[in-house]
Amino acid sequence: MARRSFIAGNWKMNKTPDEARALALELRAKLEGFKNCDVAVCPPYVSLAPCVTALRGTNIAVGGQNLFWEKAGAYTGEVSGPMLAAAGCEYVIIGHSERRQYFGETDQTVNRRLQAALNCNLKPILCVGETKDERQRNVTEEIVRRQMDGALAGFKPEALATLTIAYEPVWAIGTGLTASPAQAQAVHAFIRGLLKAKFGASAAEQLRIQYGGSVKADNARELLSQTDIDGALVGGASLVAKDFDAIVRAAK
Ligand code: PGA
Repeated sequence: MARRSFIAGNWKMNKTPDEARALALELRAKLEGFKNCDVAVCPPYVSLAPCVTALRGTNIAVGGQNLFWEKAGAYTGEVSGPMLAAAGCEYVIIGHSERRQYFGETDQTVNRRLQAALNCNLKPILCVGETKDERQRNVTEEIVRRQMDGALAGFKPEALATLTIAYEPVWAIGTGLTASPAQAQAVHAFIRGLLKAKFGASAAEQLRIQYGGSVKADNARELLSQTDIDGALVGGASLVAKDFDAIVRAAK
């Protein structure tokens, strides 16, 4: 079945509110009227509002980069799902490897965040992927299986309807090293197989799996042409309007 491609930009800890507004307006101009795939940008929390305003009425959605599972309360420094939704977010990235690596994110906390995102109708982008050491030790599938099982524990097939998975090999993030299209396709097919076994063929066939890790204008087309690669989660190249535009246009 045909899945609609989905390209998302993860701006990470880049772009002040003014810089974010400027980039959003540049993207708006470049992608005016573009409808061939779904597009989203995920700026830092403080830059969400200017992006939501700049992109209102366009086909470019806005997402958060994380959320906390409680709705409100004494959790200094945290931002909740209902807050992101109220700020105009449609999507939220959950379990990015940088959160796992630097901020103590575990499969269990990813699971709670994912549940919280679905509870307030945010569309989650769940990130999974192995480190360089894990790839070299040949345990990529084992790691991805553990991350998927942990993140999706207790979920019903309906939960997959608005979920996107991003396969992001940690060794390819921000390093300029990209998984080859064949390497990426193999893990994407593995992920779809896991979903099929757990949630059934129909839910698995409909779910979009993005690839992330040094996606650039010049490697996007080949990656995105793979059967089970339904889009990209783009870091560095999403900070440059012309590069992100080129990646969006390379989508199936
Ligand atoms: P990158 O980041 O494109 O800069 O490698 C991707 C990501 O971390 O989502």
